[in-house]
Amino acid sequence: MTVYLDHAATTPMLPAAIDAYAQAMTLVGNPASIHSHGQNAKRMLEEAREQVAASVRCDPIEVVFTGGGTESVNLGIKGLYWARSPRRRILAPGGEHHATIDTIDWLVSHENALVEWIPLDALGRIDVAALERAIARNPDDVALVTLLAANNEVGTVQPVADVAALAAAHGIPVHIDAVSAYGHQPIDFAALAAVGVSALSISAHKIGGPVGIGALVLARTAKVEPLIHGGGQQRQVRSGTQDVAAAVSFAVAATAATAQIRSETLRLGALRDRLVAGVQGAVPAVVVNGDPDAAGRLAGTAHFTFGGCEGDSLLFLLDVAGVSVSTGSACQAGIAEPSHVLRAMGRSEVEARGALRVTLGRTTTADDIDALIAALPAAYAQASLAGFADRTPTL
Ligand SMILES: Cc1ncc(COP(=O)(O)O)c(C=O)c1O
Repeated sequence: MTVYLDHAATTPMLPAAIDAYAQAMTLVGNPASIHSHGQNAKRMLEEAREQVAASVRCDPIEVVFTGGGTESVNLGIKGLYWARSPRRRILAPGGEHHATIDTIDWLVSHENALVEWIPLDALGRIDVAALERAIARNPDDVALVTLLAANNEVGTVQPVADVAALAAAHGIPVHIDAVSAYGHQPIDFAALAAVGVSALSISAHKIGGPVGIGALVLARTAKVEPLIHGGGQQRQVRSGTQDVAAAVSFAVAATAATAQIRSETLRLGALRDRLVAGVQGAVPAVVVNGDPDAAGRLAGTAHFTFGGCEGDSLLFLLDVAGVSVSTGSACQAGIAEPSHVLRAMGRSEVEARGALRVTLGRTTTADDIDALIAALPAAYAQASLAGFADRTPTL
């Protein structure tokens, strides 16, 4: 039996979400069609939109379904940037997800944007005073501020309401990448919009829904330039025939996940404590990253630095032992990179190469945790023997 401890990458679909998906796929009808098949599809779609809206406390009209978190983040950031032209500055913390980093880099290289990466503190939290100074340098030229609700590697929760209030004082829109927080922390978009948040990204496959659907929650008053043009569906913001079956399945997962946030936070928090204690017992030199205060982090995320070995060596050795975990770092073209999040938190490259992320979810049990703890000493001993490999890529 293999053990899955990489729930932040993707989590198993909820059986009820699979059933709803399969059932909805048996029906025909384009929700934009006038006939009764189309109207039935539209009714199912709008009910799903209401349920997803309820899961983040927004109005149904504010839910714009997309093809997933990456598309939502692209629409939020590029859409706001273009709508705010000719303003050029984008302010974002270091250590963001690659959906954000690469979108901003693209705007810099193709659309004349200027980016300022705001420092993170040692726990992975944005330096709000540095953001305030960056805004104050020229508030009129800031197109937008974007940040994670909670870091997807180390789990640190960001002070989004403080950031939004700061930006709102200058009329600057804020986009929040809530993909990793969604289903783990309550999200109250109405309250966030009241303090100046314009848009918020979520994704279904992180909470037990299907891969390939997400949403950009877009405040009624917010303006974004669309990425995709066509039939004018969804407030003209995201054209294209809507995926009713995926939306229905997403809604089932959203309702279940948000109903269980409180109980899952307690359950996963206890399992995480068991994990951290076990890992520290097995490898005393390990460093636990992120916020030590449970209120300041995602309950199911544990992030470690193992001295003297590569995180990806450990990952492979644990995989051989039947335990799936992650380094949390982007693996591009088969070359694992040191954790850019730890680098943004001020850690050395060597430390950033020894990172390992373990993320728990709905199906995680104490046996899964114990299996990892049992497999770790041998994996760590072997990974330490390998040390740091030469990382010159071969073509
Ligand atoms: C914080 C964060 N943002 C965005 C994404 C991208 O979401 P998706 O996989 O739905 O495209 C992810 C997924 O890893 C994520 O963790």
